[in-house]
Amino acid sequence: MNDAYLNFVNSPFGARLAGSLGLPKPEVLRRYHADRPEFEGLVAVGAGPQPRILDALAGMIARTGMTGVAHESAGLWIALAHRHGLMTGRFEPVERGSTQGRMSALLFDATGIEDVTQFDSLYAFFHDALRSLGKCGRIVVFGRPPQGCANPRQWTAQRALEGFTRSLGKEARRGITSNLIYVAPGAEALAETTVRFLLSPRSAYVSGLAVHIDTVTRALPDFDWKRPLAGRRALVTGAARGIGASIAGVLAAEGAHVIGVDIPSAKDALDHTMRELNGTPLAFDIAAPETPAQLAAALDENGIDIIVHNAGITKDKTIAKMTETAWHSVIDINLAAQERIDDALLEAGTLRHGGRIIGVSSISGIAGNPGQSNYATSKAGVIGRVQGMASLLGERQITINAVAPGFIETQMTAKIPFAIREAGRRMNSMSQGGQPVDVAQTIAWLAHPGSAGVTGQVVRVCGQSLIGA
Ligand SMILES: NC(=O)c1ccc[n+]([C@@H]2O[C@H](COP(=O)([O-])OP(=O)(O)OC[C@H]3O[C@@H](n4cnc5c(N)ncnc54)[C@H](O)[C@@H]3O)[C@@H](O)[C@H]2O)c1
Repeated sequence: MNDAYLNFVNSPFGARLAGSLGLPKPEVLRRYHADRPEFEGLVAVGAGPQPRILDALAGMIARTGMTGVAHESAGLWIALAHRHGLMTGRFEPVERGSTQGRMSALLFDATGIEDVTQFDSLYAFFHDALRSLGKCGRIVVFGRPPQGCANPRQWTAQRALEGFTRSLGKEARRGITSNLIYVAPGAEALAETTVRFLLSPRSAYVSGLAVHIDTVTRALPDFDWKRPLAGRRALVTGAARGIGASIAGVLAAEGAHVIGVDIPSAKDALDHTMRELNGTPLAFDIAAPETPAQLAAALDENGIDIIVHNAGITKDKTIAKMTETAWHSVIDINLAAQERIDDALLEAGTLRHGGRIIGVSSISGIAGNPGQSNYATSKAGVIGRVQGMASLLGERQITINAVAPGFIETQMTAKIPFAIREAGRRMNSMSQGGQPVDVAQTIAWLAHPGSAGVTGQVVRVCGQSLIGA
């Protein structure tokens, strides 16, 4: 859907008018395009005491082709960068008002911070560097998972990084995202897909995230960074239109064979979407009792590597006015059908070892929403499934995660009354709604064979919405 205000304030006349009236000016977000460089420009690197991820990070930055420049807090960086064959230099702040030499990203290694008296370099780095970050720039802070810390002081300091990182996202504006990666000791090399995702334009609408990277027991399979899902088969429900069609498109572009499911009445749209992607359409109602067995039978011969539970509906009414049918159908389609399908595919061994399950939740499931008790229950349940199943599935090296979109421009949100729709669109750090592709790219990161260390997590795709934050 079209955001007329965003288009207007980014026109020459609209920009002047918005400037003189002091109106907010949402940035046109830089998104991924296959024909434009994904990574480019300068990355400024800062660090606290005893940084533990700088070495792995130097290798990752070298592989993206970006140039890393060292802030004075990261004295080690220059030597590490040379070791990884990475172009480097010293960080120089950019003059106020100048667009020359602006940073594409600011990275800070806080993994070695052991108590709250050690925040000085965190302050100094961002105090010195934030103004030098360009439009749609990236902030990534690295910490250690608080739950794994040796003592309460370290836990306190590491947990404090969440408030810091989220505040920077709210302050920075200009399409800049700010995220935190908690890397477990020994999982440094497993952070690469996440670092790339958060540096890339693919994560345009993901900000305020605190993601955990865990160690895994099995070596990662080989993959090609350009087509990481080549040879993999992905089932996407609700694939005929909206976010589901975009998920199917992005997974196919990453090399997956997509099997798209949607209700029989959406068969024509589903066939069309799948034809464009060389995918396979399956016109099934996911809520029908026979569907799980039929899906297991249809997928049995070749198995499946990725399941994306995207199909969902809303039937909004306050609880006193809600019919029993509206209550049941939303919970059944949005939640119980996922349980039945996963049970059938796991029992039959159709979802292979090393597989991925991704559920589409919603920030309504995190915050609750008036008139959406059925929907919010179902979407909070999606989060519960992820948290409850992660360790069980870990035995088969299968990861399970949820994405929680905020306001995304689709036919579903086009139905929302104007005033509520405008509020939903603007109440986030990007002052705009997200696009279906923002959810799809986030799912592709979680589906990536290199994302084995990310499981049991909920990733908000909401431009750092104020709702539920
Ligand atoms: N649009 C948003 O802002 C937003 C925000 C948060 C979460 N979500 C979630 O994202 C998902 C996709 O949303 P969307 O905006 O693209 O919605 P949409 O209505 O445009 O698309 C949903 C698709 O699911 C299909 N579907 C519905 N019931 C089905 C069933 N029983 N069996 C098979 N397919 C079925 C529909 O036919 C449709 O193609 C949903 O789970 C939704 O709850 C959307």
